[in-house]
Amino acid sequence: MTNLEAPFGALAYFLDLHPDTGDFKTDVLKGLAQPQKSISPKYLYDEYGSKLFDQITELEEYYPTRTEKALFLGHADEITAAIGNGSAIFEYGSGSSEKIEWLVRGLAAPVAYVAMDISKDHLIESAKALAGALPVPVAAICADFHAPVELPQGVLPPPDSWLGYFPGSTLGNMLPETAIQFLTRASQTLGKNAQFLIGIDLEKDIGVLKPAYDDAAGVTAAFNLNLLRRIRRELDATLSMDDFEHFAPYNEKNRRIEMHLRAVKPTSFTIDGQIFDFQEGETIHTENSHKYSVDRLKDLIEQTPWRVNHVWTDPKGWYAACLLSNN
Ligand code: SAH
Ligand code: AVI
Repeated sequence: MTNLEAPFGALAYFLDLHPDTGDFKTDVLKGLAQPQKSISPKYLYDEYGSKLFDQITELEEYYPTRTEKALFLGHADEITAAIGNGSAIFEYGSGSSEKIEWLVRGLAAPVAYVAMDISKDHLIESAKALAGALPVPVAAICADFHAPVELPQGVLPPPDSWLGYFPGSTLGNMLPETAIQFLTRASQTLGKNAQFLIGIDLEKDIGVLKPAYDDAAGVTAAFNLNLLRRIRRELDATLSMDDFEHFAPYNEKNRRIEMHLRAVKPTSFTIDGQIFDFQEGETIHTENSHKYSVDRLKDLIEQTPWRVNHVWTDPKGWYAACLLSNN
């Protein structure tokens, strides 16, 4: 644990659980050895990847960010009234923490805000910028949300209860069984009487989904291809970026957009003496973005310790905000 300076104007607390030091190479070597080569989407978010994601959220084609924002703001009074008084907020995958201000300012007597993300430099920069701007102490934890994490003890004012916050549909990046494990662990972490506010993208026309993940300016392509750049730089891989392209098909059966890095010609590269061969068209699977119906979302939550309190959707039925309680 490192206490950076006094609360207000600086972070009340910063904890680095060193989530990916040393694991990147192991995970990439393991992922590339599978019949369908794949790498966890968490590795998309190095410092540059986090900046590219921020650019994605501003694209005309990328509807989720503005749809979620309108949904939260349109129901802010109802959502904050349903949450009640005296919560401390724990945000999973907080990124640039762009979606916290309405919640902190709308809640009655909030106690603290804890930002948690795997992308360390981006997390610290964003949390420090917020520390002066929010009316509550701000803490940051660099961790992998698929691993156990403990709430800060003794460094923040004690809340009546914790509110988990998971906007941006990042839950949709997990396989349903992983989402169940994640929610189950979060229920243990956040404890008795906790609540959880989740933003999740819903099923919609493929004509809307496809361009959102393959935009005209090529920002999503750059976000995906940055993973190869990272492999080349951090793992000294001998790969040629020009041999791969961004590919984002919709998988009807599993109701998800997938991101892949597809070889445009037969190619190979070496990491640590291991050779990985690609036929033309062969892919590395880098991300799933599941699109739920409200019923399938409720079914998923029923398989966790959480109970659904309320679901809000926007007029087009494109996005859902879901408030859960732990009991
Ligand atoms: N909540 C923000 C950011 C969403 S992008 C928003 O709604 O706009 C997804 C975020 O999750 C990124 O900031 C990324 O760094 C983080 N992330 C991805 N995988 C993670 C993991 N396994 N553990 C912790 N954070 C992760
Ligand atoms: C963070 N996550 C919810 C984004 C999504 O829409 O699945 C990541 C992303 N991938 C490509 N574009 C955006």
